[in-house]
Amino acid sequence: MPILETRLRAALQSREERCIRRRLSDPATNVGLVDFHTNDYLSLSSSEDLRSRFLTKLAAAPNILGSGGSRLLVNGAAHHAFETRLASFFGSPCALLFNSGFDANVGFFSCVPQAGDVVVFDEYIHASVHDGIRASRAREDWFSFEHNSLTALGDLLLRLIDGRPSLTEGSQSIFVAVESLYSMDGTIAPLLQIVEMVEAMFPRGNGYVIVDEAHATGIYGPQGRGLVALLGLEDRVLARLHTFGKALAGSGGTCPNHYVVLEVLKLNISIAVVLTNTLIRDYMLNYARSLIYTTSLCYANIIAVDCAFDMLEDGTAKQLSRHVLHLSAVFTATFTTLIRIRPNIPLHLLSLSPRLTLPRQSSSDFSTPLSNPPTPIIAVFTSSPRPLSAYLRKKGMNACPITWPTVPKGKDRVRVCLHAGNTEKEVEVLAREMVAWAEAESEKSGASEISDGCGLGEKRVAAVQSKL
Ligand SMILES: Cc1ncc(COP(=O)(O)O)c(C=O)c1O
Repeated sequence: MPILETRLRAALQSREERCIRRRLSDPATNVGLVDFHTNDYLSLSSSEDLRSRFLTKLAAAPNILGSGGSRLLVNGAAHHAFETRLASFFGSPCALLFNSGFDANVGFFSCVPQAGDVVVFDEYIHASVHDGIRASRAREDWFSFEHNSLTALGDLLLRLIDGRPSLTEGSQSIFVAVESLYSMDGTIAPLLQIVEMVEAMFPRGNGYVIVDEAHATGIYGPQGRGLVALLGLEDRVLARLHTFGKALAGSGGTCPNHYVVLEVLKLNISIAVVLTNTLIRDYMLNYARSLIYTTSLCYANIIAVDCAFDMLEDGTAKQLSRHVLHLSAVFTATFTTLIRIRPNIPLHLLSLSPRLTLPRQSSSDFSTPLSNPPTPIIAVFTSSPRPLSAYLRKKGMNACPITWPTVPKGKDRVRVCLHAGNTEKEVEVLAREMVAWAEAESEKSGASEISDGCGLGEKRVAAVQSKL
């Protein structure tokens, strides 16, 4: 066997043995399952309303297919008009469209940091930011900090300042990359504090915060404009990324069901936008290879997302996002109640993040600032994500197992994504079945980590807390 084949096969076999081999799921086996796994949070991919708005605009549009080439070569009137709309909607000096969020992050991080600059990012930042940094002139100078830890970020920045006079003098720049809503954990970044910290530590203005709002778009903030807008930080961050492949029904991301829209409309809709200032936009037009060397977005993509924005602007989407966040509270409450009265279930088999047991935002208005709001993404930690996910499938529900290397070792989980199309009943059944599975498993193994019979729920929470 040629050596390349031997090596590739060995790598795949090794993943197989460690139960981490990735495979595309068979679309046929997803049919009829309740969707708890796609990022289609507002269920717009199956929205009749969006479909009919789209078809109406499509029928009237001068161009619908293709775009003719790279953005730098083609006319791009539709692209330009949509960017103008986005800049105004999001309150940004300007906007630059990319074919996907992946391309946008790679484009930004591979070209904007200059030689000698430093990039700092949350340890849970998306893979596309890693890839961008690796291709950048700052590829030797990046540092990660503990997820959402202001203390860790502060310590790291202090160490960097101490070791590099250029950062204090302002002759080099530092970039801090975070997501507003993290895709695997459903955690929300303390954005205001991060921005304040960077401003205070780099008073010469050479510290820049970049916020990836991929999962918050359409869900939080006035008209779904995201958490930066919710906190009024538009002028205090260097760039924001919004992708439309999640809540706004485009494709993209990693879940095959995104392509539901593809089946319905025979289109692959995938768009992302970087909101930033005119200088950075101009620079990216010149240096961002993922923008320059690719065919620009097809007109139909732009029309589809334009329709989704109509739904954000006219308030239709707000009802949907409210419902999703209500479902999140329902799931957490049901799950927590059930698990607290089942002390025989070992912690490693099933637990929620302690964040979810803290006081929650009770208001149904998620367009005003809040602490610890519900989120459409809920990580249910388990040492057996695949068996749990397989059990749920048998019960008619689709929730993805997520394992290393997508998440850190020891933090395997089944990730629950909630949608406007889900009902309260479905969500309650999901929580009940998860607990029923764990109970049966723990009975089978006779295992019980916590067995003294008192204060069990609190111990479970405290134990998770100390692990995280
Ligand atoms: C946080 C985050 N940023 C960027 C991306 C990439 O976006 P896209 O799917 O549009 O390529 C994703 C998802 O896949 C993501 O979760």
